[in-house]
Amino acid sequence: MTTVAFTLNGVPISADVQPRTHLGDFLRDGHRLSGTHLGCEHGVCGACTVQINGAQARSCLTLAVACDGAEVMTIEGFDHDPVMADLREAFTTHHGLQCGFCTPGMLIAARDIVLRVPDAAEKTIRRELSGNLCRCTGYVGIVDAIASVIEKRKERTEAALATPARTAAAFATFEPIAPSSTASRSPSSRETLTFAREASLRPGWTRFDESFVIHKPRAVIWELFGDVRRVAACLPGVEVTSCDDTSAKGRMMTKLGPIAASFAGSALITRDPANWSGTIVGAGTDSGSGSRTKGEIVYRLGPIEQDEMTRVDLSVLYNLQGSLAQFSRSGLAQEFARQLVAKFAENCSSQLGGGQPAAPASQSLDVGKMLWLASLAWLKQIFRRSN
Ligand code: FES
Ligand code: FES
Repeated sequence: MTTVAFTLNGVPISADVQPRTHLGDFLRDGHRLSGTHLGCEHGVCGACTVQINGAQARSCLTLAVACDGAEVMTIEGFDHDPVMADLREAFTTHHGLQCGFCTPGMLIAARDIVLRVPDAAEKTIRRELSGNLCRCTGYVGIVDAIASVIEKRKERTEAALATPARTAAAFATFEPIAPSSTASRSPSSRETLTFAREASLRPGWTRFDESFVIHKPRAVIWELFGDVRRVAACLPGVEVTSCDDTSAKGRMMTKLGPIAASFAGSALITRDPANWSGTIVGAGTDSGSGSRTKGEIVYRLGPIEQDEMTRVDLSVLYNLQGSLAQFSRSGLAQEFARQLVAKFAENCSSQLGGGQPAAPASQSLDVGKMLWLASLAWLKQIFRRSN
C-alpha cells in the first residue's frame, strides 16, 4: 500500500492505495463517486474522463498514486460550475443523451472544448470530441448542445464588449495570441524563450525541461545536432523526407494501442554558435485522426569535466489538438517525455560511438509501450519516496 494525497473536488484527501489501482476504481470504490463511468478501461471510450490539474484525463489510464499532489475534479465537483450548468441545460434541450452512460465523460470533455477552443465550429467540435464514444445518440444532439453553449458564450462576451462599462478584464479575454514563430522568419533564441514562457501559461500548451549528459566533447555534439538526418535517426519514429541547414520536412509515426498516427509536417531550424544553442520550431498533422501538433524545442550545450562530456539542456513546448490530445494531457505524459528524451540520448551516444541507433527511424514510436515503461518509472519514484 502507498499513501496518496491530493485535492478531490476541492477537498484535500489522503488514502492508502495499492499502486496498481487506477483512478477510476479509486474514485468509484473508495469515494463513492460513481459519476465517473468505466466502459472499456483501455483509454478508448472516454466514459471515465475526469479533470486533472485543469486538463481532461482518462481515469482508467491514470494510476491513483500518480495523482499525488494533483487537483482532481470529477463530474460531481462541477455542480456549481456555470459552464457546466450551461452544458447540462443544453444537453437536455438538444437531446444530447439517452442512456446517459457516456454523459459524465462527454460533459467534462465538452467543458474542456468550450473553454479551450472558444470559437470551435461543428467540424472542430466533432474532432475534439472524437475520444468520447456514445452508443445511443448519433452525436448530433451532443454536438448541437456544445455548439449552442459556444454561441451563447460568444453572444454574452459581445454584449459585454458593447456596453460602455467594459473593463480591462473583458479585453483580457481577447488578448491576441502571440504570433506563431513558424511565420515568415525564424525567431531568435531570446524571442523563442519569451514565446515559450508566455505560451506555457496558455491552456492547451505543455512545457517540460529535460537534461542529459553524453560522454563526448561539446564540439562533437554540436556537429551532430547540425546534421538533421543524423538527429532524426536518433528519434524513434521520425523520418526526414527533405532538409537543408535551416528547415526540414518529414513525418513522425506513433502508436498507442489500436491508434496509429503519422504526423506529416515541417520544421524551421536556427542555430546560435556563440551560445552553443539552437531552436527547432515545427508543426504537423495526422490526416487519419485529424490530430494536429505544433511546438518548439530549445537546446543548449554545456561542457562538463573540462569538455570531456557535454550536458544537453532541452526546453520543450508543445500543443496537441484532436483525438490524440487526450493522451497528452495527463501527468503521465511528463514521464513519457522523459522516456523519449532518454531514448534520444541513448541513440545519440550509440551513434557517436559508431553503433547504430537503438531504434531505427522506420520503427514507429510505440507510445503504449513507452507509457507502460513511464508508469513503472513513476511507481519506482513513488516507492522511493514512501520508503
Ligand atoms: S473506461 Fe474507456 S477510456 Fe476509460
Ligand atoms: S447516451 Fe448512451 S452511451 Fe451516450
